[in-house]
Amino acid sequence: MASLTLPSLCWAQLFLFVVVFAEAQNTITAEPGQDVVLPCRIPTGKIIQGMKWNRADLDEYVLFFRDERLDPDGQHPFFKNRVDLQDRKMNNGDASLVLKNVTTADDGSYSCNIFNKETKSWESINTVSLTVSGQTGGSVGLIIGLSVSAGVFVAAVVGFLIYRKHERKERGVN
Ligand SMILES: *[C@@H]1O[C@H](CO)[C@@H](O)[C@H](O)[C@H]1NC(C)=O
Repeated sequence: MASLTLPSLCWAQLFLFVVVFAEAQNTITAEPGQDVVLPCRIPTGKIIQGMKWNRADLDEYVLFFRDERLDPDGQHPFFKNRVDLQDRKMNNGDASLVLKNVTTADDGSYSCNIFNKETKSWESINTVSLTVSGQTGGSVGLIIGLSVSAGVFVAAVVGFLIYRKHERKERGVN
């Protein structure tokens, strides 16, 4: 039993670490007026015919890029002249979005999508959450996120220790 529970605690720890890491990677926090970069890296080997950034709650897109230029047709007016690609040549698959002068109205879940020339279909590459805080301290959201994750981790460890103590009592150890 002991040889089973100890490694499973290690797995739980590793899992939580991955969750915390993933949260930190996919959430961007900013203050109003800042320019933000929403990261997207297209895996090597994909031949793309176009790419777009969408926001989950909007039908019109944030940015549409094809034929080596930005296509303003069908772009949500809210983003006009406020967005660009970090690198229009997309060197090394860099399709990161630059969003200028953010406000709290920019909060949302943004996804980076490519049109795959071989499969002739849209593929989602990644999703990034943006939180624009009205308060000072740009990393407040991240700190809260990490604190919550740390709290969950501590609760898991305490739970495990109580469980083990209980188990030992039942077996007559201690
Ligand atoms: C940023 O946006 C605010 C309104 O949200 C506007 O008043 C201001 O002029 C903008 N600044 C720049 C540099 O575009």
